[in-house]
Amino acid sequence: MREASDRGAGTLNETDGGRLFALTGATGFLGSHLMAGLIRAGHRVVVLGRSRNGTGLADRVDALLDWFGLESCRERIDAVEVDLLEPRLGLSRRRYDTLCPLTAGIIHCASDTRFSERCRRESMDINVAALHGIVTLARDAGAGCFHYVSTAYVCPTSPSLCAEVPAGPRAFANVYEEMKTLAEAEVAALCSRHAVPYTIVRPSIVYGDSATGRSNRFNALYYHVRALQLIRDIYLNDIEHHGGLRSRGAGIHLDDEGTLHLPLRIFIPRRGQVNLIPVDHFVAVMAEILGDPRTGTIYHVTSDAPRTTEELAGYCERFLRIRGIELVCGEEMDRTVQNPAEEVFNKLVKPYLPYLADTRRFDRRNTAKLTAGLSTPEMTYAVFERCMRYAVSVNWGSTNGRPPGAM
Ligand SMILES: NC(=O)c1ccc[n+]([C@@H]2O[C@H](COP(=O)([O-])OP(=O)(O)OC[C@H]3O[C@@H](n4cnc5c(N)ncnc54)[C@H](OP(=O)(O)O)[C@@H]3O)[C@@H](O)[C@H]2O)c1
Repeated sequence: MREASDRGAGTLNETDGGRLFALTGATGFLGSHLMAGLIRAGHRVVVLGRSRNGTGLADRVDALLDWFGLESCRERIDAVEVDLLEPRLGLSRRRYDTLCPLTAGIIHCASDTRFSERCRRESMDINVAALHGIVTLARDAGAGCFHYVSTAYVCPTSPSLCAEVPAGPRAFANVYEEMKTLAEAEVAALCSRHAVPYTIVRPSIVYGDSATGRSNRFNALYYHVRALQLIRDIYLNDIEHHGGLRSRGAGIHLDDEGTLHLPLRIFIPRRGQVNLIPVDHFVAVMAEILGDPRTGTIYHVTSDAPRTTEELAGYCERFLRIRGIELVCGEEMDRTVQNPAEEVFNKLVKPYLPYLADTRRFDRRNTAKLTAGLSTPEMTYAVFERCMRYAVSVNWGSTNGRPPGAM
């Protein structure tokens, strides 16, 4: 069996100070912020992950610690390379045993978050099949609790409030929603079978830090803004450097104030809203859950003040200094003649369109009980601008703003 390389595996324990957690998905968006949050709170973390593109896990984690300004906290982390699909996570018996005792808990954030049907097999593997090994570790290590990070979008699309209760099969928007729903049921079944206490945490759509605007991932909300920026820049370039013939032909022009008039219809099934929470709020709520987990409980980490798609379109216009976005509801996009800008945009964001037309509202009674006094930061224009300014400043993650460990 493969002996995965790691750094100081199993040397941490709770007597070193703080509590000891194991974390998967620490090289991803939510997981890296959780790792940083746990470290800042004085805890110790065993990161269970993998190497990528020739970079070992320990180096990836180090790069993330640098990004978070936590380079002095390296000794609070063990980076253990594992294969989540292998028995004993691909570790030798001896190495596996060093992972115990993980007394405080295991937080499982690793996930294939792609929507595409082409990824069904890998998605099933990592989102569902991999649960067996990690829950078994929770049992073997006597972990205080297994925390599964799911998504609010396992909830059914219904006009009533989506309760913090198990989700069932339905027509899913994509393979990701389907696998996360299967995974929740599997977590409940495995944890019950192995007598492992567990919680299920369901965030809605997460964006960067509301206070600093920083982020190390630029998908979901960012993806739309980036697509609009790309289209805007094509036409600005045409107007400023090539006489603007192409733009004029498409009814696009720059006004005296420097605003680009860019007619662009976005085709969505119905008027909707986007439920957004900042990553700092996700970490704050997780801290409360980790501090007082109630087994079998589902926690919605969602906003009670989602932004309507119109509001967000307005934010994009203001930020990018464009005018002309129009939301077209209920019309079949494929049957409508679109201008080139619309064609590009609607094609780029097609997988995300259901989330622009979402009408779900989320009950979060379980979460509220734990987080009294912790309000959800609202996605105001000021927050939006802060986050997007940061994204632009690091060229949406393609310059050095993105930690190499996250590549
Ligand atoms: N981001 C959101 O807005 C959002 C909203 C709701 C729920 N969630 C949930 O939050 C969790 C984390 O999401 P995220 O946005 O942070 O995702 P992400 O940035 O895509 O990170 C995914 C993590 O999973 C790991 N992973 C994926 N496939 C793996 C495999 N085969 N073996 C080992 N590790 C693997 C990745 O490791 P590598 O770096 O090695 O690839 C990475 O650490 C997921 O469960 C997701 O469903 C996220």
